[in-house]
Amino acid sequence: MTDRTQNAMWGGRFAAGPDAIMEAINASIGFDRRLYAQDIAGSHAHAAMLAATGIISDSDAAAIREGLLTVLSEIEAGKFEFSTALEDIHMNVEARLKEIIGEPAGRLHTARSRNDQVATDFRLWVRDQVDAAIIGLTALQRALIAQAEAGADWVMPGFTHLQTAQPVTWGHHVMAYVEMFGRDIGRFADARARMNECPLGAAALAGTSFPIDRQMTAEALGFDRPMANSLDAVSDRDFALEFLSASAICAVHLSRFAEELVIWSSAQFRFVTLSDRFSTGSSIMPQKKNPDAAELIRAKIGRILGATVALFTVMKGLPLAYSKDMQEDKEQVFDAADTLMLALAAMEGMVRDMTANRTNLERAAASGFSTATDLADWLVRALGLPFREAHHVTGSLVALAEKKGCDLPDLSLPEMTSVHAGITQEVYSVLGVRNSVGSRQSYGGTAPEQVRAQIARWRERLG
Ligand code: ARG
Repeated sequence: MTDRTQNAMWGGRFAAGPDAIMEAINASIGFDRRLYAQDIAGSHAHAAMLAATGIISDSDAAAIREGLLTVLSEIEAGKFEFSTALEDIHMNVEARLKEIIGEPAGRLHTARSRNDQVATDFRLWVRDQVDAAIIGLTALQRALIAQAEAGADWVMPGFTHLQTAQPVTWGHHVMAYVEMFGRDIGRFADARARMNECPLGAAALAGTSFPIDRQMTAEALGFDRPMANSLDAVSDRDFALEFLSASAICAVHLSRFAEELVIWSSAQFRFVTLSDRFSTGSSIMPQKKNPDAAELIRAKIGRILGATVALFTVMKGLPLAYSKDMQEDKEQVFDAADTLMLALAAMEGMVRDMTANRTNLERAAASGFSTATDLADWLVRALGLPFREAHHVTGSLVALAEKKGCDLPDLSLPEMTSVHAGITQEVYSVLGVRNSVGSRQSYGGTAPEQVRAQIARWRERLG
C-alpha cells in the first residue's frame, strides 16, 4: 500500500489507492462543492425519514442532524477543508460528519446511493436557478414596460432587413421584448413543473429493500412527488437539458435585444443614450462611449449555447442507468446559469437607466418613405385600385420623390396627379407618420391605444 491509501468510502475491495491522474480526472469537488447546501438539505430529509421509518434510531438521527448543521456552518464560514481524495461534495460532507459525530455518520448512507443523492442535489440546484431566472426576467419586463409606457406613442421607424419599413411606436417595439421574455418565463415555469419530482430513494438504480418513505423525503425537499421509476430517477438529466434549452432561447432573445442596443446607441442612430453606469470609455479616443455591457451580453450568450450542446452531447449515447459521464453535467450548467443571471441583471440595469431620444426616433421615422404602404392602402381605399396597381403607382411616386431628394409628403399635388390622375388632397392625411401608426388599430398593432392596452394587460399580470 502506498501513501495514497484506499478510499474510506468505497476502498474495501481495493488494494491500492488511485493514481494521481486518476484522482484528478475523477474528482468533482472542485466544482460540485457548489451543491453543498442542497446536499446537506437532502441528507437532513433522508436522515429524518430513516428515523421515522425505524431504519435508524432517533438518537442517531439527532446526532446526524446536529452534525450536519455543524458541517453547514463550517462550509458557510469558509472553514471547511475540501479534499480531492474524497472526490465529491457527497463524500466530503459525509467524511466530515464522521469526524464530528463518529459512528452514527456511517448510518446516513443506508438506503441511499450517490447516484440518487447527486440527482436530487442537482435537481434542487437547478430548480433554484429556474426560480432566479424567472425573477430576473420579471424584473427585466418591468424595466421594459416602464420604457414602453413613457414612449407609448413616440413614433420610430419599424424595420425589415434593417431597412426602414413602416413607422411603429417606441412602446410597440419595446413591448415586443416583453412578450418574448414572457414566453421565456413560461418555458422556465413549464420546466420547473416537470422537474419537481424527487429522485431520492431510487438508491443506486433499482430501489432499496429498506422500508423507506419516499413521499416523506419528496415533501421535505419541496418536490411534488417521488419519481416513479428508479432507473429513470438516477439516469436522466432532462431537467438540466430543459433548463439549458429554456436558457438558450432566452439568451437568444437577450442577444437580439443587445444587438439593437448596440445599433441604437451608435452615432448613426442615436435612438437611445445608455447611462454612464452601463457604458465604458476608450483609452485612446476621448469621444467614445461604448455599449460594452450590450456587446458582452451578445457575446456571452455563446457560453449558454455551448453548454447546451455540450450536455446534449454528454447524454446522447448513455445506456441506463448512471454513468460517470454524467458528472460532466454540472460545470456546463453552473456556467450557463451564472452567465444567464449576469446577462439578465445587466440587461435590466441598462434598460432601466437608458434614455430613448424621442426627437431622433421621430425624425428617423419620417425618413425612408416609411408611409409608402399607407399611400398604397389609400389608393385602394379611396380610389378603388387593386392593391397590385396601387403598389405600382406608389413605387413610381417613391421613385419621383427619390429623384427630387424629398420625402413622400413633400411631393406637390400636381406631382402626385402626374403619376395617377385620381389622387386628391386627401392623400396627405395618410402620409404623416403619426396618422400611419394611429391607423394601425388591428389587435396587436402599433397604434398607441393598442400598445397601451398591452401595457395594461402586462401590468395587471405582473401585479
Ligand atoms: N460525483 C458524482 C457525480 O457527480 C456523484 C455520483 C457518483 N456515483 C458513482 N456511482 N460513482 O455524478
